[in-house]
Amino acid sequence: MANKNKTLGEFIIENQTEFKYSSGELSRLINSIRLAAKVVNHEVNKAGLVDILGTAGETNVQGEDQQKLDIYANDVFIKTLTNREIVCGIASEEEDDFITIAGRNEKNDNKYIVLIDPLDGSSNIDVNVSVGTIFSIYRRITPEGTPVTIDDFLQPGNKQVAAGYIVYGTSTMIVYSTGHGVNGFTLNPAIGTYYLSHPNMQFPEDGTIYSVNEGNYVHFPQGVKDYIKYCQKEEEDRPYTSRYIGSLVSDFHRNMIKGGIYMYPNTSKDPKGKLRLLYECNPMAYIAEQSGGKASDGFTRILDIKPTELHQRVPFFCGSKNMVAKAESFMKKA
Ligand code: AHG
Ligand code: MN
Ligand code: MN
Repeated sequence: MANKNKTLGEFIIENQTEFKYSSGELSRLINSIRLAAKVVNHEVNKAGLVDILGTAGETNVQGEDQQKLDIYANDVFIKTLTNREIVCGIASEEEDDFITIAGRNEKNDNKYIVLIDPLDGSSNIDVNVSVGTIFSIYRRITPEGTPVTIDDFLQPGNKQVAAGYIVYGTSTMIVYSTGHGVNGFTLNPAIGTYYLSHPNMQFPEDGTIYSVNEGNYVHFPQGVKDYIKYCQKEEEDRPYTSRYIGSLVSDFHRNMIKGGIYMYPNTSKDPKGKLRLLYECNPMAYIAEQSGGKASDGFTRILDIKPTELHQRVPFFCGSKNMVAKAESFMKKA
């Protein structure tokens, strides 16, 4: 396969013209994310050395204050995007409010906004299990030349112009889409270059993996309980197997390669669900659909939900098309 040697940098340049408002800005934006991801990757890889280098809240041997990795990742992404003056606004899971970036000469003339979950699966850091970063990109809807407003951030997911994630796993990968399918790039840490390792990724239509925190079972809606029982039933193609890492990015990535469904339903404890629509569900739903998968809140397409607040939560069912459709049918029946 000739294009397996292609680097992410080459790929971005080659595909720039596919993008309908091609001015190079989106390419530069993805380039910045690629760069920030390398910096975060370097720090994530050192996480196991905290006992030697100092834990969060302490001062390390170099006299630097140690930060929690999710705060560190947040700072790296925000600084990289701000310094390069390529976005007009950022919203992050780690920030209460969105950030306005006036850019060159305070002109507010950049077109894109970014929403980000800088470190996803953060509870897995201390135990050497994969974590990730999730990003989502929109074109602003308020006029250029004025500061961004909340309306720019509360667009439905179907307005995304690009989205993706980075998985800091056994290898570090960046997987993203600009609306023309999904491509995955693997970092060669020796030379700091990402190579196109997974061209045109396809979510299998069916699968045999279900991923859900079954510790919450008693709190699930009846439809989810019924669907889980269906997955566990002895039939020709079942029982399915259960796999749950507790890092959305890693669970999603595995399911996209092998075929499966990820579920984080509403529970009696969290009636709106746990995952965040803007930072987690919309970008993952976009990647799922761009690769032939499906994403729903149990009843409605995730990408058609009109957000009402930045940190909104939503139940999430995402993965192989036929599995998500089946889960929805159980929700409807219950
Ligand atoms: P984050 O680390 O960004 O707060 O996200 C954690 C999310 C998601 O990655 C994961 O799938 C889910 O929370 C796990 O939740 P439970 O521990 O409740 O299963
Ligand atoms: Mn997260
Ligand atoms: Mn997070």
